[in-house]
Amino acid sequence: MERVSFSGTAIERLRSGRVLVLTGAGVSAESGLATFRGEGGLWEGRDPVELATPEAFRRDPKTVWRFYTERREKAAQASPNAGHRALAALEEALGERFLLVTQNVDGLHERAGNRRIVRLHGSLWRLRCTRCGDEDEDLDLTASHRCRCGGRRRPGVVWFGEPLPEGAYEQAAEAAARADIVLVAGTSSIVYPAAGLPEIGREAGAWTVEINPERTAISDRVDERVPAASGSALPALVEASSPGAD
Ligand code: APR
Repeated sequence: MERVSFSGTAIERLRSGRVLVLTGAGVSAESGLATFRGEGGLWEGRDPVELATPEAFRRDPKTVWRFYTERREKAAQASPNAGHRALAALEEALGERFLLVTQNVDGLHERAGNRRIVRLHGSLWRLRCTRCGDEDEDLDLTASHRCRCGGRRRPGVVWFGEPLPEGAYEQAAEAAARADIVLVAGTSSIVYPAAGLPEIGREAGAWTVEINPERTAISDRVDERVPAASGSALPALVEASSPGAD
């Protein structure tokens, strides 16, 4: 396991302050799920506009469903990793001082035990009717892609050009403005409005920490960079910030 260290400020703020965690696909990489960008990413050799827009679904629902069915099956077979489990332990320890805002739709944070969670980009485990808007949970991948109203159902994720779930961004932005520390893990920080949350926190005085083996679009605008995998860094951070850890 790589040795990862954090500043005294980060540790102190985790122990006493309000904590906002923003995650992206990189947090699920160590569970065997592809990220979107970079080598082997979901968008490599694929055009997101052809797979993740309402227009693409209207044009060719079969192809779009094939893409999401494959992602749902892989997510169903995957398990939360040490990074997910560390965030569940952090929520357990911090209670109301903790909020997790995720761009991930794979459900691994929830399966690890997080409950104080804002899903900015929806969920692979929900289906929505394109005619009546009815939404249903589909945890075992058996639900029909036809709604009771006869309409076609689509994956309950947010596609490019679509608004985020009602109130989700507002809740996340409000928490960022009140946070004492913002942890940003496993995201390339190029998709807005999610990528703007750390800056909201920083402008309001939060200490911002980026956890990512690669530099990202915001690496020059955070207080602390931890160039490590979240599966190592998050457990190390939780351990270092637990009472009596000095
Ligand atoms: N630990 C931490 N970070 C990692 C790890 C790891 N083990 N492995 C990869 N990463 C980092 C990569 O370096 C990259 O910066 O995770 C990031 C993943 O970036 P993206 O693939 O762009 O995923 P994300 O930022 O979540 O994408 C945002 O874009 O396609 C849309 O809606 C989709 O929610 C998604 C949004």
